[in-house]
Amino acid sequence: MRILSASIQGFRNLQESIFEFSPRVNLVLGRNGEGKTNLLESLNLFALGRSHRSAKNDEMIAFESESLFVKMGVEGADGTPLRCEYAFERERGSRFFLNGNVVSRKADLVGILNTVYFDPDSIHLVRGEPRRRRHFVDQGIAETDPLFLSHLTSFQRALRQKNGLLRDLKKGLTKITTAREELKAWNRELAHHTVEICLGRADYADRLTPCGDTAHRNLTGGSHGLEFLYRPALETVKSALEKSSEKGEKKEHLKAEILDEIDYIMETEIKRGRTLRGPQLDDFEVCRSGLDLRVFGSQGESRAAAISLILARSDVLFQKRQIRPVIFFDDIFSELDQERSHRLQEMASGLHQVFIATARPGDVAGWRPPEMKTWSVTSGEFKEHDTT
Ligand SMILES: Nc1ncnc2c1ncn2[C@@H]1O[C@H](COP(=O)(O)OP(=O)(O)OP(=O)(O)O)[C@@H](O)[C@H]1O
Ligand SMILES: [Mg+2]
Repeated sequence: MRILSASIQGFRNLQESIFEFSPRVNLVLGRNGEGKTNLLESLNLFALGRSHRSAKNDEMIAFESESLFVKMGVEGADGTPLRCEYAFERERGSRFFLNGNVVSRKADLVGILNTVYFDPDSIHLVRGEPRRRRHFVDQGIAETDPLFLSHLTSFQRALRQKNGLLRDLKKGLTKITTAREELKAWNRELAHHTVEICLGRADYADRLTPCGDTAHRNLTGGSHGLEFLYRPALETVKSALEKSSEKGEKKEHLKAEILDEIDYIMETEIKRGRTLRGPQLDDFEVCRSGLDLRVFGSQGESRAAAISLILARSDVLFQKRQIRPVIFFDDIFSELDQERSHRLQEMASGLHQVFIATARPGDVAGWRPPEMKTWSVTSGEFKEHDTT
């Protein structure tokens, strides 16, 4: 998968510009605050349907402008040319287009353009809250399994409804007699989606581990192994995963057990006014040679593990759908020692199209992969340089 060209208007501080990218390595150099991340953000936005910086849409429209428009020429995984566009207007909101047709649901954007984004914040995949790891896994599964995404969305909707009801009960706005039946109905729906979410996460963690282990050994040149282990919050899920039974049988049985487990704590949930158990509390352990890096990892160890896991996600995507995502490296090499930086550059650019943004040209000094293109940016204005 490759982004071959882009035309950008009204995006943050970026001057109106047109790019022809290298199918291999694209390097963007510039001092702090000149527009490097803005360019990468604009190219990554279609893939996610939103900014990776979790900015609001109108924050991305240039200060003096009323709208922004980005158009990209993309080569799909099977070589198909795709035209990916999006427009944000202060008045009308956001619209996405594929080959000129409006993409009406955000969920339909998933899997059209696959990307992976690394920035200094990526370390939080290992050190941050469980929510970060759940999101990482859920996004990874959704890339290859649209059904999973619909279970997850329905689960989240049902959970919001159930929490709303529990809150109303606590405030005395609803009668307990009718609410019990309603809570039971929500629990049935939650259990139905929970079993799919948990089995999906368990399977994904199993797939990620060998890829992450290989990436980690390649990146560090060391002998330390890496494991990514699913730690479900529900006791029933924990014990079901320890037993080996037929998948179909496991699913039906587990669904009933999950329902029992969440029904059992209903009275406590009513007292507390919120849901207390479920996959919304799941976590994943990141282990380097048996040591839990979430707790004991040094900065460098956690960083190497996070990078390996993100690369592993792209390997899983390749195994399942023969897709190599576009990789963005935003200011990441200044955080790695030179040897690891160089290894990562080689590992990623061998198989993927990569975009690298850095304020320190020294991070990529002496690295001249074939077909590399280089730009420098000053106040949002890009100038292409001859790299050869
Ligand atoms: N909506 C907007 N309109 C105009 N300018 C904006 C808008 N949003 C952000 N900016 C400006 O864009 C500039 C460039 O930001 P960007 O994050 O791309 O810098 P950078 O080159 O990645 O810098 P660093 O090396 O510090 O990461 C910043 O000065 C920022 O204030
Ligand atoms: Mg930046």
